[in-house]
Amino acid sequence: MKILDGKKTSNQIKEEIKAEVSAMKARGERVPHLAAVLVGNDGASLTYVGSKVRSCEYVGFDSTLIRLEEDITEQALLEKIEALNADSSLDGYIVQLPLPKHIDEEKILLAIDPKKDVDGFHPANFGRMALELDAFIPATPFGIMQLLERYEVPTSGKHCVVVGRSHIVGRPISILMSQKGPAGNATVTVAHSRTENLAALTRQADIVVMALGIPEYLTADMVKEGAAIIDVGITRVPDENHPKGYVIKGDVAYEEVAQKSSFITPVPGGVGPMTIAMLLKNTLLARQWNQA
Ligand code: GUN
Repeated sequence: MKILDGKKTSNQIKEEIKAEVSAMKARGERVPHLAAVLVGNDGASLTYVGSKVRSCEYVGFDSTLIRLEEDITEQALLEKIEALNADSSLDGYIVQLPLPKHIDEEKILLAIDPKKDVDGFHPANFGRMALELDAFIPATPFGIMQLLERYEVPTSGKHCVVVGRSHIVGRPISILMSQKGPAGNATVTVAHSRTENLAALTRQADIVVMALGIPEYLTADMVKEGAAIIDVGITRVPDENHPKGYVIKGDVAYEEVAQKSSFITPVPGGVGPMTIAMLLKNTLLARQWNQA
């Protein structure tokens, strides 16, 4: 069994990006510039955005954190988005989710210029991805593809069962793995909450991608000997024995499933750490595509 180490791989990707930024500087080019918009004071969002900004600094990108009041109107936020779209010093930006309830998230995401949409949430990017055109791929499926590729997990001709059909994980990873190319050419089944006899399907899978959000749902009896297991779940489970009062659990019963698997992502330390590295990668791509 081989552990797909997301922490190590994401650090490698950051080093590659850092080297690319140094080369850009040496050529006298402007370095990539990412902005992050944070509305309100949600603790978890502050933590996420803070670590995105720190990662930008680490690889040598310019970064701007734009903090807006919790009670900002939808109209005022749309005007801010328009200003960011027009700002030629900016290669890409993200609007951290979730947004306050009085703001229509879909309306905001649709207003982002697809050329600057480094989260890959705009329908134009989803469509371009599905048609195998250059596109910003959302960080989680992009990170999974990188882990599969870099660890040379066999995917061509293999049966992959994706459990979950969300717009930012299950659906895109199912499309990407069925496409031609590295970590692709798989035969993909998308399972979800209405799927009948899920265990019968996962037992046939050479690769299982769990993106359900139910802690330790996938147990050893549900997987084939030698399967590769990708766990996207991150659920906080209350635990009084832990200083934080909770532990992070994936969708996979790790200990028992690991014993049967050929490759497996741990939680934490698997898919999670890959996401910031892929956001940086998208920002670098934005810089390259938008100047071409
Ligand atoms: N909130 C949690 N994850 C994400 C993400 O990847 N992008 C944005 N914009 N908001 C998030």
